[in-house]
Amino acid sequence: MLLKVVKISALVAISACTLNAGSFDTQAEKDRQALVKYMEAKFSNPEKNKSFFPYSTEDELKRVIKKGVKAADLAKGSYAYDSIGREQYDDINEMPPYEDAIDEGEVLYGKKFANGKTFKECFPKTDIAGDYPYFDNKKKEVVTLTQAINDCLVANGEKKWNIKKGNMAKLEAYFSHQSKEAGKKVAIKIDSKEAAQAYENGKKAYYTQRGYLKLSCATCHVQGTGKRVRKEYMSPLLGHTTHFPVFRLKWGNLGTLERRLEGCNKDEGENPHKGSSKWAKEVLYFMSYMSNGLGIDGPDIRK
Ligand code: HEC
Repeated sequence: MLLKVVKISALVAISACTLNAGSFDTQAEKDRQALVKYMEAKFSNPEKNKSFFPYSTEDELKRVIKKGVKAADLAKGSYAYDSIGREQYDDINEMPPYEDAIDEGEVLYGKKFANGKTFKECFPKTDIAGDYPYFDNKKKEVVTLTQAINDCLVANGEKKWNIKKGNMAKLEAYFSHQSKEAGKKVAIKIDSKEAAQAYENGKKAYYTQRGYLKLSCATCHVQGTGKRVRKEYMSPLLGHTTHFPVFRLKWGNLGTLERRLEGCNKDEGENPHKGSSKWAKEVLYFMSYMSNGLGIDGPDIRK
């Protein structure tokens, strides 16, 4: 018992120390680098690393799953390593079904509210997709891009938008496109003790088994990356936030990251957390940090 107390207080002392040092992202940065290492090792040579791909045949490992995939490629999700899926993806992208949405998003950006102002008041720059979510040290909460857009609408006397699709997805598609054109990268900051705590909460949620299926997000998107669920290969956590909103063939329209998160949370056999909840925002903060340094690549298409 005593030993346990000593150990715990030593741990507390160490973490207090790192936090006082002013580098609040030390742990997050370690986590991110470990994830990059894990994913790059997994895909360095799938034929050799068979244990990572227990449901794939020899032939599949040889012909379908690509070798030597790097972190930067993983913004493309499973299309980074599934060469058959990639061919279909490239075919669809010859006439991307999200192009009109980008234009409509641009119109929404410049359109006057009833008070005569526009989104420019809140978002003077448009290449901002990689800067969200951020931790607001005054409000002491994670702020997602969807939330910032809705806050802007409300501050200007307008009604909030649905955070999953429609106008929200269109405006985000425009921001994402602008960010991609400008060569912007995911650049999430953790600059206070509270921000580090929000990150830790998100990480814990991501790795917690839930629902009657006892699955965690990580079961499928960390350990499970590269495995097949029926015909679909599972994509990595690394790169998950770089390309939203996406036009999903299953949806037949464009949807936000929040929409995808709710869907996957539901598939875990749980009554899904709302995309605007503290839980979801902290999960998104963690997920986005994991993609730090990767190029913005949205909007995009997914099956
Ligand atoms: C039973 C496995 C499973 C679990 C558990 C799961 N997902 Fe998924 N998820 C999938 C599958 C399958 C897809 C579609 C193929 C792909 O891109 O991985 C997907 C897709 C996604 C995508 C879109 C990826 C892209 O590139 O567009 C995101 C984001 C995502 N999941 C997040 C989550 C989060 C967050 C959780 C936990 C709340 C979670 N998933 C739990 C199986 C799972």
